[in-house]
This record gives sequence, structure tokens and C-alpha cells, in this order.
Amino acid sequence: MTNFNDELLKDCIDWAKEAGKIQLGYFRSQNLDIKTKFNYSDVVTAADKASEKLIISNIQTKYPSHSILSEESGQNEVESDYKWVIDPLDGTTNFSSGLPEFCVSIGIQYKGETVVGVVFAPYINELFYAVKGKGAFLNGKQITTKHTDSLHQAVVATGFPVDKDRNPDNNMDNVKRVLPHVRGLRRLGAAAVDISYVAAGFLDGYWELNLHEWDVCAALLIAEEAEAEYDFFRNDRNVSVMVANSGIAKALSSLISRKAFKE
Ligand code: IPD
Ligand code: CA
Ligand code: CA
Repeated sequence: MTNFNDELLKDCIDWAKEAGKIQLGYFRSQNLDIKTKFNYSDVVTAADKASEKLIISNIQTKYPSHSILSEESGQNEVESDYKWVIDPLDGTTNFSSGLPEFCVSIGIQYKGETVVGVVFAPYINELFYAVKGKGAFLNGKQITTKHTDSLHQAVVATGFPVDKDRNPDNNMDNVKRVLPHVRGLRRLGAAAVDISYVAAGFLDGYWELNLHEWDVCAALLIAEEAEAEYDFFRNDRNVSVMVANSGIAKALSSLISRKAFKE
């Protein structure tokens, strides 16, 4: 099993790098073919689709009996103890604007537990990865969270839900409570990178509501293996997660609402 996880990790890394190459071929080009999905702030490009195609066809060739959930094509029909959870391009708004924070995110679950996670940001060439029980790494070097004693020393990130055009439960209430207490608040724009940055100690904390499994699967294993704490703070808004180093987790959590904001 352990050796198999290592083999899976190697494949994830190779395929994330191949997908990253595809993305760099489109980045800041005229060939993005930007389309909207749910609304004007939910976009997909030709690079999302080409990356997904490559990753899925590699999995289907080598592991045809494995189940696959991927953002653009959904869940395949295979039932298996192994499930690949893929965001072929996380941070598409950044990508489509020419901003460098975007990544490929591939997680693998075995009987519902994530055992392998890879987050690769090709433009900045940052490869985060973890195998369950074996630590987390950035470009081959082991990472752990930073220890921060108080929110006053903390730089944290967040994001805003895609239905912000129609739902007042849009995270601004949390921002209003957190902002006065922290050294800095960022909106970097790719959930998998945000969480990996908490793992590496570049951010002290991060929270976001209304994410999906593919946004967080790989990065939460990386965070866990780097000793970050995390908490699913809402159960009525898809995946709503706070990730932080142990020094500020409690303080940050106390400022984030567990209930829907109503005007
Ligand atoms: C999005 C990014 C963004 C987050 C959104 C996600 P996508 O993923 O992770 O940072 O705020 O909620 O949907 O659409 O670029 O894969
Ligand atoms: Ca995403
Ligand atoms: Ca995506």
C-alpha cells in the first residue's frame, strides 16, 4: 500500500507538471477562449479543458478501474476504493487575467481518506506534495506551518463565493471582523495555493466558504501533513474551510461565523 501511494504520487507529479506545461502555453496568450459558467465571475478557458483532458486520459490509461471526480467533467461512472479528485486549473480568474497564482490540484482518496496530494503552480514553479503520514514538501524540501502567537502578527487570506452577485452571505461579514485584527489580509485567488501557503508558513491562516471538494482535496492533505489545523466551519455552504497554524487557529476561528449572514 505504502509503495503504491509513492507510485501514485509520482504519477500525480508527472501529470501535474505536464498539465502545467499546457497551461503555460496558453498563459497571457490570445488563445484562452474564455467562457462563463454559473455567472460572469465563474470562468473556464481552453487551458482548463486541455489540462483536464490530459490528466483524465493518463488516469484512464494507467488506472482504468479508479473513480475520477474532476471539476469540468464531473464524476465518472466507475466505482472504486480509489478516487482521484481533480481541479485541472485552480485560479482560472487569475489565469485568464494574466496573474501568476494558478495551479493544478490532484488529490487521491482511498476509501474516502486522502492519501496523496499534489498542488503545482507552473508559472511560479512551486510544487507542493504530500503522502499520508510522510510529511509535506515544497520543491523537495519538507515544510511545516509557521508558529504565530497572535493575529496581530498574522497574514491571512480569504476568498469570495461565486454566487456573490445574488447572495448577501458573501463573506464580507467575516472580513469586517477579521480585518482590524490581522497584520495583513490577502485575496490571492487560488484556494489550493492559499492552503498550501498556510502549510509552508507563507500565510498564517486562510478561510473561504462555498468551495468544492476539488478545490481542497490535495491541499488539505498537504496542510495536515505540515501540521496545520483545519475546520469545516459551515455545513450549509458546500465546502467551507478555515486552515491556520496552531498559534492563531482558535483566534481566527472565533471571528468566522458558523451561520449564514443575512442583511
Ligand atoms: C476558484 C479559486 C478561487 C476561489 C473560488 C474557486 P477555480 O476555483 O479557488 O480562489 O475563491 O471559490 O472556485 O474556479 O478557479 O477553479
Ligand atoms: Ca478551483
Ligand atoms: Ca478550476
